[in-house]
Order: sequence, then structure tokens, then C-alpha cells
Amino acid sequence: MDVSWYDQEHRDGLVALVQAVAATGGAVGWLAVPPPAEVDAWLGRLLASGAQLAVATDGDQVLGCGAVRREQPEVLRGLGKISKVMTHPAARGRGAGRAVMEVLIGQARAQGIELLTLDCRGNNHGAQRLYATLGFVVTGRRPDAIAVGDDRFDQVLMHLDLRAGPAGLVRHGSRGEGPGAT
Ligand SMILES: CC(C)(COP(=O)(O)OP(=O)(O)OC[C@H]1O[C@@H](n2cnc3c(N)ncnc32)[C@H](O)[C@@H]1OP(=O)(O)O)[C@@H](O)C(=O)NCCC(=O)NCCS
Repeated sequence: MDVSWYDQEHRDGLVALVQAVAATGGAVGWLAVPPPAEVDAWLGRLLASGAQLAVATDGDQVLGCGAVRREQPEVLRGLGKISKVMTHPAARGRGAGRAVMEVLIGQARAQGIELLTLDCRGNNHGAQRLYATLGFVVTGRRPDAIAVGDDRFDQVLMHLDLRAGPAGLVRHGSRGEGPGAT
């Protein structure tokens, strides 16, 4: 298995991956199987937003993927967000999800991202386990925020702090001090 950055040659495999994950109810945002044009439109928006999409491949097959994107507002440039992590149902349990995540984390680290975030459906214990084994911790939970028809699930917010140490940063946390304090 290889992990590389998305390229046009991965397009058909990516469509097949997204469709297979959506068809099996994967918690990645699609409630119905998207036609190829919808996957193309999503991919176009994702890449135009500055996100980078990692793909795990085995020959022509795309086994899995995941995206990382640095936040744009200046005061949030230290934040990166991971999204759309998924593995083809036929390839689960073979390390593709972990391999993609490790590449995304490495990329975030190389870009100087300080805090890597993601969110996850409350009932998605397998994904939460994957993220926890990589060092992510739960930031908090938005109660029953995710709607699937009449069902509601917590949105579990998680983060991984990539800062090695103080390194000249002055960390105020939530103390009432510094610019913007009231
Ligand atoms: C979550 C998902 C990406 C995991 O992908 P995967 O390639 O099967 O994961 P890996 O084989 O790399 O497993 C890595 C670790 O994740 C955890 N894990 C993955 N699936 C799990 C499950 N069903 N139950 C418990 N732990 C699980 C385990 O800790 C595992 O480590 P181990 O193999 O040493 O036990 C995959 O199940 C998936 O695509 N699910 C549907 C889409 C989705 O939910 N994406 C996440 C959105 S937040």
C-alpha cells in the first residue's frame, strides 16, 4: 500500500471509494450515494479551499483517503483540520486509515500547524479509537448536533497538539490577559 497526494489518475478510484463508503452508511457526510459529478464537485471545492487530499492506493485501487486544511483567518493559522477520512469497506482493518492519518499529521507538522482538529459522529467509536491511538484527545461534544433523518448524534470534537514546547510562545489559555481581554 502507498500513500500519496491526490492526482487526476486517482479520480475514478476516489469516486468508487466515496460511493462504496456512502453506500454502507459511512459517517463522512453523504446520506445517499453521490453520482460521480457530485464527487467531482466536492473534490473541486475541497482542493480549491487549499486542502490537501492524501490517498492510500494499491495499484489502481484507491483504498482510502483523508484531507488536511490549514484554517485561513490570520489568528487561526495555527489550526489545521482533518476531514473526509475513509477506507473502502473491502479494505478495512488493513492499516489504510492509520497510514493516511500518519501522512496528514506529518504534513501538518511540516507546515508548522500547532493544533490539528477533527470531528466525528458520536457513535463512530471505531474512528474515535483510531484517532485516540494517534494521540488525539476529545476537545468537547456538541450534543446531538449531527442529523441523520430524525436521528441525532453528538459531534465529537477532537484535537492533537503538535507543539513540542514553549518555543517562544506565550500561552494565555483562557486567562483574562493579553490583547482582546475583557
Ligand atoms: C474509521 C476508518 C477510516 C478506519 O479505517 P481502517 O483502514 O479500517 O483503519 P485501520 O485498519 O488503519 O485501523 C487503525 C486503528 O483504528 C481503530 N479502529 C478502526 N476501525 C475500528 C473499529 N471498527 N472498531 C474499533 N477500532 C477500530 C483501531 O485502533 C485500529 O488499530 P488496530 O488495527 O491496531 O486495532 C474506517 O472504518 C471507515 O472508513 N469508516 C467509515 C467512514 C468513517 O467513519 N470515517 C471517519 C469519519 S470521522
